[in-house]
Amino acid sequence: MDEIVRFENVGLRYGAGTETLADLNFTLYPGSFYFLTGASGAGKTSLLKLLYLSQRPSRGVIRLFGEDAVTMPRERLPGFRRRIGVVFQDFRLVPHLSAFDNIALPLRVAGVREKDLETPVAEMLDWVGLGDRASARPATLSGGEQQRVAIARAVIGRPEILVADEPTGNVDP
Ligand SMILES: Nc1ncnc2c1ncn2[C@@H]1O[C@H](COP(=O)(O)OP(=O)(O)OP(=O)(O)O)[C@@H](O)[C@H]1O
Ligand SMILES: [Mg+2]
Repeated sequence: MDEIVRFENVGLRYGAGTETLADLNFTLYPGSFYFLTGASGAGKTSLLKLLYLSQRPSRGVIRLFGEDAVTMPRERLPGFRRRIGVVFQDFRLVPHLSAFDNIALPLRVAGVREKDLETPVAEMLDWVGLGDRASARPATLSGGEQQRVAIARAVIGRPEILVADEPTGNVDP
């Protein structure tokens, strides 16, 4: 099976001081689930940021979809990021947008026409059990409901990689 992610001798240092992450070496394959555990502050979110390209490593090689993601030209990064769905630890929903519009966002950014949005977004809302909250703003939703909107937004674009940072922290068993 072809690898989809590879980290080679990756290190991450925030500012001066010791490395937060050191000597990361691992390979991930398509069609698989991987789980990362560690104490609070161990560096889980930092590792995921490297994976979804919101943080550059201070050393080492990160290969995504068979390409070097660290040295790739900046203008190619947005296209790469669209292939990766992310559920953030702090959700990061857009506060002035409804649940529907938050979930529709990745499709709109990708240029999907309005008439083609309705059905997939409605299906996603139903899938996460929020079919009746389409017009609700994030602040009026519970933590678990916001998390479910975040999950729906992360998967609606059918990303090749889904990165989820503590995605079940606020939802039912
Ligand atoms: N942007 C940043 N600048 C400086 N230090 C940071 C930054 N982000 C994280 N850190 C530090 O890096 C370390 C790892 O943080 P990280 O958020 O990756 O941990 P975590 O394993 O996700 O923790 P938690 O389980 O609490 O979410 C912590 O000591 C944190 O203070
Ligand atoms: Mg974290």
